[in-house]
Amino acid sequence: MRGQDLLSVTDLDARQLELIIETAIAMKRDGSPALLTGKTVAFLFEKPSLRTRVSFEVGISQLGGRSIYLSPSEIGLGVREPIKDVARVLSGYVDCLIVRTGSQGVLTELADWASVPVVNALSDDEHPCQALADMLTIFEVKGGIRGIKVAYVGDGNNVARSLALACGLAGASITLASPDGYELPATDLEKARRLAGEGGVIEAVDDPRAAVNRADVVYTDVWTSMGQETEAAKRRDAFAGYQVDKSLIALARPDAVVMHDLPAHRGEEISDDVIESSQSVVFLQAENRLHAQKAALALILGDNERQEV
Ligand code: CP
Ligand code: NVA
Repeated sequence: MRGQDLLSVTDLDARQLELIIETAIAMKRDGSPALLTGKTVAFLFEKPSLRTRVSFEVGISQLGGRSIYLSPSEIGLGVREPIKDVARVLSGYVDCLIVRTGSQGVLTELADWASVPVVNALSDDEHPCQALADMLTIFEVKGGIRGIKVAYVGDGNNVARSLALACGLAGASITLASPDGYELPATDLEKARRLAGEGGVIEAVDDPRAAVNRADVVYTDVWTSMGQETEAAKRRDAFAGYQVDKSLIALARPDAVVMHDLPAHRGEEISDDVIESSQSVVFLQAENRLHAQKAALALILGDNERQEV
């Protein structure tokens, strides 16, 4: 994985995803060696963040590296200067770019021109770092990922896409339920199916109850993502009936867990009693951002002996 970009879950193969999870578990259990000593990572964030920014900064520091946060106004990606110039200038100073932006095309352009790895810290299309933490969490709470049945209820957005691809890669089944017009495109389901091969079943349904029926994991995300705020009222109407609440969870397996990448809009995609219930693992999931990303960065940038992939 050394030197590899992480723009999409599809940048990983099944063995690499497994290795990230194994490494994260080992680091969580035994602590982490200073694999990033002398390494500097630059953050280019064009949208707000709590979990992603803090977990990456803390993780890099725990691995002995350092990070520099660059605010949108400082960089003006493509405004103050061309994206390809930013990529080449920063490549002369730092060892990795961690980027949160809207367009996947901006990430691809940065990666094309940078001589250092670029990591997607959320785009409109994908949230691969979230998916790594999600897979780690499922592994921990369910004792494995292969054969697990995941239900995703809500918007067919960045989080849903990366989750579906990661389920495909890891051998989990996923059923997505979204209202008309808000589904994950069929091309993404196909992509996830190709990754799954003979592994998990990847499917989409209309009825959230059909998706959640006998599920091991029930996952949801906000109906209105960052940048879609003007659509909030329209989306609240469109998603009526898609809230993950007690009556929906009752259809899942009794030992099912509830996941959400956070931040949550309680009372919209998830009820307060469900997110606060004993079935909710959202804070473990948030903590696992730290461990999963440390593992990914160690494998992409670190001077470790486990560079066989
Ligand atoms: N889940 C997640 O990416 O959270 P932030 O937007 O706070 O980073
Ligand atoms: N879908 C959400 C995820 C936030 C972590 C968004 O893009 O705003």
